[in-house]
Amino acid sequence: MNIPNKLKSLVVGDLHFGVSYEIFEEKEEVFNHINELREELSRIIEENSADRLVLLGDIKHNVPAGILNLSEILSNFFLEMKELIDVEIVLGNHDKDIEPFIPEDICLHGGEGTNLGENIGLFHGHSWPSPDTLRNELVVMAHEHPYIEEREGKGKRTTRPVWIKTRLNKNNLPERLSGALEDRNPEFVIIPAFNELATKGTVNRKIPEEWTKHHPFFRNHAIELDRAEIYSLTGNLLGELKNLRID
Ligand SMILES: [Fe+2]
Repeated sequence: MNIPNKLKSLVVGDLHFGVSYEIFEEKEEVFNHINELREELSRIIEENSADRLVLLGDIKHNVPAGILNLSEILSNFFLEMKELIDVEIVLGNHDKDIEPFIPEDICLHGGEGTNLGENIGLFHGHSWPSPDTLRNELVVMAHEHPYIEEREGKGKRTTRPVWIKTRLNKNNLPERLSGALEDRNPEFVIIPAFNELATKGTVNRKIPEEWTKHHPFFRNHAIELDRAEIYSLTGNLLGELKNLRID
């Protein structure tokens, strides 16, 4: 929807620059994949005439030393984006050491998240957001890399990234958050990871307890998962999660 005189924001989560080292053996292939992500993002910004880019955490992956010059890659990436568009960054759990490479005029937010100014709250998702971030009509979170698994014919299984739209289980939130919400229950959207090589969080199977350790909303059952609506990347409703479960 394009609202006249309103800023058009593009929100992108989980770029995980460098995660491709887990897939490709050659450094050049790892680097090329990062360039493909950068080019795709630039194309989306231009095609949509976006005014503002919000990077919703986990811009980079934890990559062992000697594989990539991540400091140079990140510095160039931020400068390139800044030339194209206004940029804001919300830090994720993989972004602890990136601050030195972020230009001073890029607005930076921590794990508590931020407000987009149009009753929209944004945070990464590895920690609880602030009450101000949650007290909105729409709250957007990244970090989960949501996928669903589907059966195709004889035992063949495929996975695809999805969007999740749901509401909060307010009773399972920490008191400071449930109290701040009063009688509101925001629409809660979990966005897919921009980098398709990042770990898959398959949500229509039983979620392993180990996986929920750094995922407070899942660990505390603070979102309504069964009634969550699952959408394809192109925005088609695939169904409620309870009807898409495969185990
Ligand atoms: Fe994350």
